[in-house]
Amino acid sequence: MAEIKTIGILTSGGDAPGMNAAIRAVVRTGRYHELRVMGIRKGYNGLLCGDIFEMDSRTVSEILHKGGTILQTARSIEFSTKDGVEKAANICKIFGIDGLAVIGGDGSFRGARDLSRVGLPTVGIPATIDNDINCSEYTIGFDTALNTIKDAIDKIRDTATSHERCSVVEVMGRGAGYLAINVGIASGAEAVIIPEEKFDFQRDVIRKIIEGKHRGKQHYIVILAEGMGEAVDIAKQIEKETGIETRATILGHLQRGGSPTVKDRVMASRLGARATELLKNNEGSRVVALKDNKVVDYEIEEALNMKKSIDKDLIELSRILAH
Ligand code: F6P
Repeated sequence: MAEIKTIGILTSGGDAPGMNAAIRAVVRTGRYHELRVMGIRKGYNGLLCGDIFEMDSRTVSEILHKGGTILQTARSIEFSTKDGVEKAANICKIFGIDGLAVIGGDGSFRGARDLSRVGLPTVGIPATIDNDINCSEYTIGFDTALNTIKDAIDKIRDTATSHERCSVVEVMGRGAGYLAINVGIASGAEAVIIPEEKFDFQRDVIRKIIEGKHRGKQHYIVILAEGMGEAVDIAKQIEKETGIETRATILGHLQRGGSPTVKDRVMASRLGARATELLKNNEGSRVVALKDNKVVDYEIEEALNMKKSIDKDLIELSRILAH
């Protein structure tokens, strides 16, 4: 088995708080083992352009607490072709990169798998605020995004209470309800609308709000997972059917920014370090993940075929606590 002397690192897909902590962990663990570490800017796009520079422990000073990614990120169309993958592998050869750590989501892991198929050992590190990577119970950035959304909803609640209003708050998630259901519980929402659970607008939203009013509630929060309807239309419908003034807030990209929480910094450090150990031992075509709060690793293809779903107990809990 060829010895790995130089590893590359890139971030790909949507950025997530904690990516910098993962970059730092890869660089410092790599240097600890006397590996050369090359940073690749702007994801697979930057790799195809040879936008590559050498990193050392000092390059990653003062980044642990910063949101976003110092390596920047992008989605690449050229890289999704066979020629693009071969070109990327060749560029790695030119720069002497003989193993690659990829920080990102499922799409980024598919790219890592393709590179490993043409002979470049790769390891994926799960990072997305959506927590929707099936092989891992946790993804870097999720906790920070939850806290950011919780803070925003606490503020929205202040004004909703003052006016005795209802607020419909749309949160991100790209087809997954992990953010929505957790902030629904954390912020005492009347209703949470997520893709994983069928819902009846009359029974699960309108009736809940009216019952709340009869119990003396002074504000009503409805969490809407992105893709489950237009927040403004839903707000208008609630107002029409309940007679309660209703406003819509789409939190948008503010959910992706901010300094990572302790949980994200520690998680990113653990996952990044493990990924680097795997590369050092020339164990490519792997993904690191969290299972039962322990860091594990899987073969990439196996990881991409795994399934996970929202805990039904969490959905039930959010219903019970809204009473
Ligand atoms: O995957 C992270 C995420 O923020 C999703 O929640 C959202 O659907 C998507 O990225 C938005 O992507 P973009 O930044 O390209 O608009």
